[in-house]
Amino acid sequence: MASTPNAHRVALVTGGTTGIGAAICRAFHQAGYAVAATYTHDDARADAFSKASGIAAFKWSVADYQACVDGIARVTAALGPVDILANNAGITRDASLAKMQPEQWREVIDVNLSGCFNMAHAVFAGMRARKWGRIVNISSINGQAGQFGQTNYSAAKAGILGFTKALALEGARDGVTVNAVAPGYTDTDMVRAVPADVLAKIVARIPVGRLARPEEIARCVAFLCAEEASYITGATLSVNGGQYMA
Ligand code: CAA
Repeated sequence: MASTPNAHRVALVTGGTTGIGAAICRAFHQAGYAVAATYTHDDARADAFSKASGIAAFKWSVADYQACVDGIARVTAALGPVDILANNAGITRDASLAKMQPEQWREVIDVNLSGCFNMAHAVFAGMRARKWGRIVNISSINGQAGQFGQTNYSAAKAGILGFTKALALEGARDGVTVNAVAPGYTDTDMVRAVPADVLAKIVARIPVGRLARPEEIARCVAFLCAEEASYITGATLSVNGGQYMA
């Protein structure tokens, strides 16, 4: 007998041991789901996250299709089939186009955009067969508005919006919703890596007057994954303090 209403749901969060992903994991945990996080390289951080949260962490790169297939099989063996997928893993390799190397383009597209395909591909058929699923893809304000120095990242994050809408159509009949959340600048390591003078100018243009907190993004993801959100699909939820009104 399930101890909480959602205990039979398994949620998987990519890039789940830090930043927005860790906040999504905690929100899912609080909602009562069985939660798994993926991470790519930092074992010590993943161990610390798992110890502090009680959430299992699994290591693989979302950019590697076969690693996703194998990794999801491991999660399924440990927790059960994946009902909820938050495609959160993302990287930046910022440079103006003039300075951007092909490798910087490829890495960002492979992780941020192809990673969504790789992960969704491995769970989507099962969700449809079970007639229930939630996929939330983390886009960005910079995929909606563009950002100097981010042709790679903006392209990937805009691509996620099209991917989301197309997949929403394919899941709708079978109870699988697919939505995007587009965060603004959020207080994470990724944003703290932006040069301080550049970041100060960006924050000065945010109507709310500050960075987002990861928890403010996570609660939107949890909202879209709830049982009651079954009629929301193909949507983009912008969470950016008023910085860009799509
Ligand atoms: N708009 C217009 N011109 C700009 C500009 C801007 N925003 N930023 C720089 N320039 C101009 C400079 O004034 C300079 O012009 P001059 O040559 O005439 O002096 C020129 O562009 C410099 O170009 P460079 O290619 O030499 O740029 P750079 O090497 O100095 O650095 C950069 C460029 C790496 C993009 C740096 O500006 C930067 O890191 N910007 C921040 C990018 C950013 O916001 N990233 C977000 C990361 S967080 C994230 O992505 C999470 C999320 O989802 C929100």
